[in-house]
Amino acid sequence: MHAPRHSLLLALSPQPAWADVQSALHPKGDIAAGIADMSWVMFIGAAIIFLLVLVLLTAAMYGPPRLRGLLGHRGIIVGAGIAFPVAVLTALLVYSLGFAPSLAGAGTPAARIEVRGEMWWWRVRYLDHDGQVLFETANEIRIPSGVPVELVLRSDNVIHSFWVPNLAGKLDMVPGHVNRLRVRAEGPGVFRGQCAEYCGAQHAKMMFEVQALSPADFEAWMTSQRQPAMEPSDDLLRVGRQQFMQACAECHAVRGTAAAGTRGPDLTHVGSRRSLAAGVLPNNVGTLAGWIAGSQHIKPGNPMPSFKLPAEGLRAIAQYLHSLQ
Ligand code: CUA
Repeated sequence: MHAPRHSLLLALSPQPAWADVQSALHPKGDIAAGIADMSWVMFIGAAIIFLLVLVLLTAAMYGPPRLRGLLGHRGIIVGAGIAFPVAVLTALLVYSLGFAPSLAGAGTPAARIEVRGEMWWWRVRYLDHDGQVLFETANEIRIPSGVPVELVLRSDNVIHSFWVPNLAGKLDMVPGHVNRLRVRAEGPGVFRGQCAEYCGAQHAKMMFEVQALSPADFEAWMTSQRQPAMEPSDDLLRVGRQQFMQACAECHAVRGTAAAGTRGPDLTHVGSRRSLAAGVLPNNVGTLAGWIAGSQHIKPGNPMPSFKLPAEGLRAIAQYLHSLQ
């Protein structure tokens, strides 16, 4: 585990509530820490040079004639106008290139997770060492903390951009191309991410969450997620499952049942997720029913129609989905 970075700077500024959740200035992972370091070096360096230029400019305009004559000297113009910028920019280039290899990462990652940008949500697939899919989930990425994790970023539709500011910089998801991002969370925590490339009507409602768990908790979670969906424990849930099969199975999968649709999110363990509709709603029976009935009202233009179901049927489906822990 690493000591928190920039402790002096943080000590001088009050820390807002969102700092640990979504902030590039409060890194909680290797890559984000490197980017934050680089940002501070550039910001402080640029601020010093800017002040220097202002001082020279003021001297050149209002200084005594002798000083103004000195500043108009050829040596100053060549030195400060050409040699200095070339030296500074070269140094910055070398510094930033030295940082680039750490983005790709070396060695075998502790987990490999494929994330696909959909319109407008995130398809998340956990892969084994051979790249085979272990299970699929959506809009929530759980990773083991303290170890390198490889995120395989793809898209089959338009360009999205994957961004979790506390862990890493932005990386685009480009159709027909695979981008790989190595992240390593310092410790357990919940980080918010969002799509950072305009991708259509609901780009602004395309969030996700990365939950960094201790490796033991992560293994336990993986084991539970690989299980098929729970069997309904009472009549209401059985009715809900039956209604779900009629209305939803065309587009959604629930492992362990006949529902195997792939257009929408896999709902095998949807009840265990913290939010719905890519971070738009908290996840409970009421919001599940609200989303099914008012999907087009909440995220207009998304591929899921709003379903006009009788109230009992809607409630039964929502209860059933909520039971899928
Ligand atoms: Cu996906 Cu913006």
